[in-house]
Amino acid sequence: MKERVHLAQGDITKFRVDAIVNAANNSLLGGGGVDGAIHRVAGPKLLEECRGLNGCETGDAKITKGYLLPARYVIHTVGPVYRGGNSGEADLLKSCYRRCFEVAAKNGLKSIAFPSISTGAYGYPIVHACEIALRTSLEQLRSFSEIGSVIFVTFSGKDLLIYAKQLSEL
Ligand code: AR6
Repeated sequence: MKERVHLAQGDITKFRVDAIVNAANNSLLGGGGVDGAIHRVAGPKLLEECRGLNGCETGDAKITKGYLLPARYVIHTVGPVYRGGNSGEADLLKSCYRRCFEVAAKNGLKSIAFPSISTGAYGYPIVHACEIALRTSLEQLRSFSEIGSVIFVTFSGKDLLIYAKQLSEL
C-alpha cells in the first residue's frame, strides 16, 4: 500500500492531480490558510459552486470542479477544531480522510493530494493528525484499489519530516 503514498512539500494549489483536498470550514464559503489559497487560484466560479452546496458537516466531504486550478476537482472537507483531544476530534479527523476517499472513488478519481487537515488554524497537533492521516489513508487505499496515488503535501519542511518519519514507522 505504501508504494501508492507520496510526500511532498509546497503549495497544494500547484499540484496537477485528479483532486486536491481543501481544509475548509462548515460554510464552504472560503477562509484563510489552504482554503484561501485554493479559492484565490481557482477563481470566483469555485465560490459560486460552493454556494450551492449548503455547507458541509465537520468530518464530511463534498466535491466541486477545480476551475482555474491544475487539479480537475477539489474535495472540500471540514476538519475538527482541536479542543484538547477529548471532544471526538480523532474520530472526526479520521472521518474527513475516509469521506475524501469515498467521494474520490465515487467520482472515478485516481490521484488525490491532501494538505494537513486541521493542523493550521484549527490547532490539531501535527504529530497526532499526521498519524491519523497516514493510517486512515493506508486503510482506505486497501478498500479502493482504483485510487492509484495519494500525495500528502505539507507547507513546511518541518511538517514534511514528521510525515516522513511516521510513514517509515507504519
Ligand atoms: N498548500 C499546502 N498546505 C498549506 C497551504 C498551501 N497553499 N496553505 C496552508 N497550508 P489551515 P485548518 C497548510 O489553517 O487547520 C481556513 O480559514 C498549513 O500550514 O489551512 O484545517 C478554513 O476556512 C497547515 O499545515 O486549515 C477554516 O476556517 C494546513 O495547511 C480553517 O482555516 C492546514 O491549515 C481550517 O483550519
